[in-house]
Amino acid sequence: MAAAEEELALGFQRRFLAARPLRSFPWPELEQKLKTSSDSSLLVDILHKTILHPLCVKYPSSVKYRRGFLTELIKKHESTTAEPLDELYDTLADILNKEESTHCYKNYLLPTGESVTLSENVAIISRGTTGLVTWDAALHLAEWAIENSTVFSNRTVLELGSGIGFTGIAISKTCNPKAYIFSDYHHCVLKQLTENICLNGFVLEPETTNHIEMQSQGQKVEVMNYQKPKLTVAELDWGSVTEKQLMDLQPDVIIAADVVYDPEITLALIGMLQKLSTYRADGKPPEVYIAFTVRNPDTYHQFKAELDKIGIGWQIIPAHRNSIFLYDLHSNEYILCSFSR
Ligand SMILES: C[S@@+](CC[C@H](N)C(=O)[O-])C[C@H]1O[C@@H](n2cnc3c(N)ncnc32)[C@H](O)[C@@H]1O
Repeated sequence: MAAAEEELALGFQRRFLAARPLRSFPWPELEQKLKTSSDSSLLVDILHKTILHPLCVKYPSSVKYRRGFLTELIKKHESTTAEPLDELYDTLADILNKEESTHCYKNYLLPTGESVTLSENVAIISRGTTGLVTWDAALHLAEWAIENSTVFSNRTVLELGSGIGFTGIAISKTCNPKAYIFSDYHHCVLKQLTENICLNGFVLEPETTNHIEMQSQGQKVEVMNYQKPKLTVAELDWGSVTEKQLMDLQPDVIIAADVVYDPEITLALIGMLQKLSTYRADGKPPEVYIAFTVRNPDTYHQFKAELDKIGIGWQIIPAHRNSIFLYDLHSNEYILCSFSR
């Protein structure tokens, strides 16, 4: 297969495995290629890189999504003069027999060749939370982190409002943190988050013991767990965090994605950041990076005004270079800012 066709098929693969919207696929390029090719090998290749890809077979996207994608692919094939492709119709028949579920999987391909597989909810809001799906700001933050891995390397990272875990799992797989503390406050989110971390091959540490202490000749010795990074999941509500929790956390770096969307939540978040920086044992405030989507300019302005009011400095970080997760850059403005005291 020619390099350009291979690249086109890989573009389909990356978008399909992460279940990106069908409108974001390079359909016009595919049509163009099909017009000039004499056989169906490109379509067969795309089929095997998407619906029949081993990751999708093991961790499938929603039935609705696969049906929609395949219907589109079949339309493209039928617009050519090529012979009917049984494999396309057999695969569609197979999907039509499947029942729709409230859960689906998404597989995000990392530049290292690894992937992050997440079990997500099909509805963007369910069980009274927005935390059961991955939001584009989480992809934005992870892309930036992958390009700036030294910020995380060998450091203790605390993520606020982790949702179901995309950013943290991607950072843990690519940026070599010393420890990564995922956190959220919603029970269903925490349960799904924990399952997703394990699904990606990590073993969780108990929340409060990051190390095992042994008595040895009267001295305390830390026995480090074999796994690096050490991953923990903390139940943390910004509105009611305790002193003990704050003392236990001690992060070098704090990150959060898509947590600036509601004025009430924003105030609690800023309060949490203020407290976290005053509870550092060494007096050094942690670095803070927050990524969010500007949906409502008023919420964004209120966030900035509240930070200014309490003297937390912030700056917008220039956009990173590489697009890895192919989210829609044009439909929203994504902002990543870092904080200083
Ligand atoms: C829009 S979701 C973002 C999830 C994830 N970071 C992402 O970008 O995909 C917001 C998350 O913040 C969490 N959250 C909201 N208010 C919170 C609070 N007071 N304390 C802790 N987490 C909170 C929600 O449970 C939810 O998981």
